[in-house]
Amino acid sequence: MSKKKELRIGLIGCGFMGRTHSNGYRRVWNFFPELAYKPVLQAVCSRSEDKVKAFAEQWGYASVETDWKKLIARDDIDAVDICTPNNMHAEIAIAAAAAGKMVLCEKPLARGLEESRRMVEAVEKAGVNNTIWYNYRRIPAVTLAKQIIDAGKLGRIFHYRANFLQDWTISADLPQGGESLWRMDADVAGSGVTGDLLAHCIDTAIWLNGSIKDVSAVTETFIKERVHQLTGKVEKVGIDDACIFHCHFENGSLGLFESTRYARGHKALYTFEINGEHASIRWDLHDLNRLEYFDHRDESIVRGWRSIHVTDGDQPYMDKWWVPGLSIGYEHSFIHQVADFLKSLETGTPCSPTFREAYETQQVCQAVLDSAASANWKTVADQ
Ligand SMILES: NC(=O)c1ccc[n+]([C@@H]2O[C@H](COP(=O)([O-])OP(=O)(O)OC[C@H]3O[C@@H](n4cnc5c(N)ncnc54)[C@H](O)[C@@H]3O)[C@@H](O)[C@H]2O)c1
Repeated sequence: MSKKKELRIGLIGCGFMGRTHSNGYRRVWNFFPELAYKPVLQAVCSRSEDKVKAFAEQWGYASVETDWKKLIARDDIDAVDICTPNNMHAEIAIAAAAAGKMVLCEKPLARGLEESRRMVEAVEKAGVNNTIWYNYRRIPAVTLAKQIIDAGKLGRIFHYRANFLQDWTISADLPQGGESLWRMDADVAGSGVTGDLLAHCIDTAIWLNGSIKDVSAVTETFIKERVHQLTGKVEKVGIDDACIFHCHFENGSLGLFESTRYARGHKALYTFEINGEHASIRWDLHDLNRLEYFDHRDESIVRGWRSIHVTDGDQPYMDKWWVPGLSIGYEHSFIHQVADFLKSLETGTPCSPTFREAYETQQVCQAVLDSAASANWKTVADQ
């Protein structure tokens, strides 16, 4: 008999993220056997009964619900995992916290600051464990970047540069809204690339390089009107298709961020580069096991960019996987987040980023959107 404590999960939303999280819950205890808690796939919820039953069977959930309120009301659920579009995050998270459930919520925290504030208040008032799935932090090469920076190897940091480039909305015939294209609908998504893609870049940047002080941004909506899938009518597009901003970090470094869904040829090109006094690092999601590192203090005849294949047992998370030299993938970042969340229940140390920590990313996103709308610099703390 297993002596592990059970953490009974209620998952809401069975799309892309519903699958990555379910995979995380299923695989975590195979690879992190030391953890005291074990997730149990207790229930999954989606509005379509056929779809949710098929999902439950495929992933091994014990039961299904078609109304998320019923899932939250159940006594046999310990933690609610929110994998729905952004417009549902606040309502579900606040209700789940009020019902005393732990809450794991997909990013971005919410559509805007007002919802985000209420979410932070709700989990803190209820005193429930909470986390936001900014999973890129838990790709071993990115975690290693954090360790290298925290060890002071870069020295004073001058520049932080990040891109998140895609190309899937270029066609003017692409509609907006509805089940498959909610990201194109501002009412559901809150914003376009700022909340969807730059939120990831901002979360990583704050984690690696500290708080952002102020921002100056431009946004563009290249296709101004699209057919809305729910109404069938041509409607104004309310999201930002592309966003570029620069900023000051509190540590005095300069930041430069770009995101678009109009960069032909790029599907999910998330990259960052950090330049310090002694050394620089850069990372690319398309080659996620590698961290590039340049150290000016190296002997000049061998000085150059080195490509660190982050697969050794003494590098972050990699003692849990195969043998040195063998790669892992995107899905492992979610398994790592599940592991870290379970560990946080043992240690009592919150699983970062908490709702409160993710609120800072929301403040930066808001400052970016406000700056673009007003063509002025915006201070993040004023948001
Ligand atoms: N961490 C990441 O890298 C990452 C990647 C993609 C998406 N996301 C975030 O995850 C969330 C979900 O995105 P996705 O790509 O999985 O979307 P998706 O469209 O693939 O899935 C959304 C699911 O929610 C369900 N749903 C919608 N309304 C519902 C309701 N009222 N009750 C129950 N189920 C409902 C839909 O039926 C669908 O199954 C979004 O907030 C998104 O920003 C994060």
